[in-house]
Amino acid sequence: MTDVLVLMEGIEKSFPGVHALSQCQFELRAGEVHALVGENGAGKSTLMKILAGVYSKDAGRIFYRGREVDIPNPRAAQLLGISMIHQELNLMPHLTVAQNIFIGREPRQRIPFVLDDKRINEQTRALLDRLHLKLDPRTKVADLTVAKQQMVEIAKALSFNSEVLIMDEPTAALTEAEIAELFRIIRQLRENGVGIVYISHRLDELKQISDRVTVMRDGRYIDTVETAQTTADQIIKMMVGRTIYEVMPELRDEPYSETVLRVSNLNRGRTLKNVSFELKRGEILGFAGLMGAGRTEVARAIFGADPVDSMDMWVMGRKVQISSPADAVAHGIGYLSEDRKRYGLTLSMDVEDNVVLGSMKRFLNALGIIKRSDTRVTVEEYVKSLAIRTPSIHQQVKNLSGGNQQKVVIAKWLTANTDILIFDEPTRGIDVGAKSEIYKLLNELARNGKSIIMISSELPEILRMSHRIIVMCEGRITGELTAAEATQEKIMRLATQREDTTTSPTEPVYA
Ligand SMILES: Nc1ncnc2c1ncn2[C@@H]1O[C@H](COP(=O)(O)OP(=O)(O)OP(=O)(O)O)[C@@H](O)[C@H]1O
Ligand SMILES: [Mg+2]
Repeated sequence: MTDVLVLMEGIEKSFPGVHALSQCQFELRAGEVHALVGENGAGKSTLMKILAGVYSKDAGRIFYRGREVDIPNPRAAQLLGISMIHQELNLMPHLTVAQNIFIGREPRQRIPFVLDDKRINEQTRALLDRLHLKLDPRTKVADLTVAKQQMVEIAKALSFNSEVLIMDEPTAALTEAEIAELFRIIRQLRENGVGIVYISHRLDELKQISDRVTVMRDGRYIDTVETAQTTADQIIKMMVGRTIYEVMPELRDEPYSETVLRVSNLNRGRTLKNVSFELKRGEILGFAGLMGAGRTEVARAIFGADPVDSMDMWVMGRKVQISSPADAVAHGIGYLSEDRKRYGLTLSMDVEDNVVLGSMKRFLNALGIIKRSDTRVTVEEYVKSLAIRTPSIHQQVKNLSGGNQQKVVIAKWLTANTDILIFDEPTRGIDVGAKSEIYKLLNELARNGKSIIMISSELPEILRMSHRIIVMCEGRITGELTAAEATQEKIMRLATQREDTTTSPTEPVYA
C-alpha cells in the first residue's frame, strides 16, 4: 500500500543567470525516508525550498495528499504540515530551547507581551520526551552543540505536527554517536508515518537510513530507485553522468626533512593541554579525533584567531609571535575554517572579489591599481579547475549552493599562496566528484612544497590523504601514526583515550 503525501511535477525555477530546476519531479510517501542526492548545485535545496514555501516556483504543480496546493510562504507549508531543517540552522542563539520552539506563537499570559515560560517549558518537555531527548527546555541554544541544536529543530518541526520533514544535510557537522541518535529519531518518526526527505552527500548513510533515493543532476530529475536494490556506484553514476572508479590513492612524494612549523606547549584553559607537534615541508599532516577533541582550537590558535594561555611557535626555524590572523598570514599561514560562512567568505561580494581580496598585493600594478585582467584570469582558472558552479565570477557568493561556496573559500587560500595551509573539514558538504578534485589539489600542493594540516572527521579521508596522523582526545594529543601503520581501529582507539584511563598509551605521545 502506498500512501503518497507529496507529489511535485514539472517544477521549474530560474534565478538571474541560472536555470536551477527544469522539469523536476518528486514523490514522497508517508512513513518513508526518501534520500535526495546530486552534485553541488544540482538543485536539491532549491527543490525542497519550493516545497517548504521559501521559494516560489516558476511553473509546475504540487499535490499534497492528492489535492493540488499552493505554497506561497513558509507559513503555508507549516499549516499543511511541511517543515524544513535548513543546511544552515536557523535558531536564535540567545533564546532558550523552549523559546525557540514556540517563537512567534507563544501562549501568552494575561499581561500582554510576557512569555509564559512555565507553560512553554512544560510543552517543550513533553515534546522532548516524545523524542526521548535529554535536553533542558531552559537551556540557551548558544550553549548547545550543533547536534543538539539540530534536535531542537526537529522538535520544533514536530511541534507543528509535521507530516513531512525535510532535512538538508543534517549530519554534516555531527559525530558518529550523534548521527546514531539522529537516525534513531528518524526511524521513530518513520514508524509514526512521517515522510522524511533526507539530503546528504554521504552515500554510505543512504543504505542505513533511506528507503528510496531520488537523484538530480544539473537541475533535472534523473530517477528514483529503491535503496535496497541499488549500489552506491550506480547512484554515483546517475549523479555525475559517468562512472567514477574508486580512484587509487594518488602517487605521493615523501615530505622533505625540513621542518616548516613547530608548535610546542600550546595550552588554552581546559580545551587544549600541552599540544606539541611539527610539520614538514611537503607534508599532509592529518588531525583526527572526535568532534570537540580540540582540533579546530589548535588550528585557530596557530592562526591567531583565539587567545591562548601559552604557545611557542617556530616558522621555518624562527621563533614567531602570533597574536592575530594578520600575523599568521604575514608568516605564510592560511586557515580554511570549518565555518566558512562566518570566517571564510563575504557573502554579499562576488566570487572574484572573495577569491582575490586576501591577496590584493599580488594583483596591483605599479600605480597600486588592481589589474582586473589578472584577477579575472586567476579566478576563472579556479572556477574551472575546482568546477565551481556559478553563472559567472561576478555572481554574489550568497547565491551559490553550499558546496560551491566551500570551493570558493578553497580558491581564496590557494590564491593567497601561503606556505602553510590549515584545512578544517575541507570536503564537508562537497559532492563525490569535486571531492576527488580537492584531494588531487591537496596532493599537488604538497608536491609543490606546501605544507598542509588537514583536520577531518572522515576517517577514510584522513587515511587516504595523510603522510602522518595526529590523534586528539579532550584537548590532548593522544598519539601519532604514520600512514603505513594507521588503521581506522587504531585511530578510534586513540581518539577515545581519555585522560583518566589507567592503561598507558599504545603509541608514543608527542611531547
Ligand atoms: N537565491 C539564489 N540566487 C541565485 N542562484 C541561486 C539561489 N539559490 C540557488 N541558486 C543556484 O541554483 C542552483 C542550485 O542550487 P542548490 O542550492 O539547490 O544546489 P544543491 O543541490 O542544494 O547543492 P549543494 O549540495 O552544494 O548544497 C545553483 O547553481 C545555485 O547557485
Ligand atoms: Mg544544498
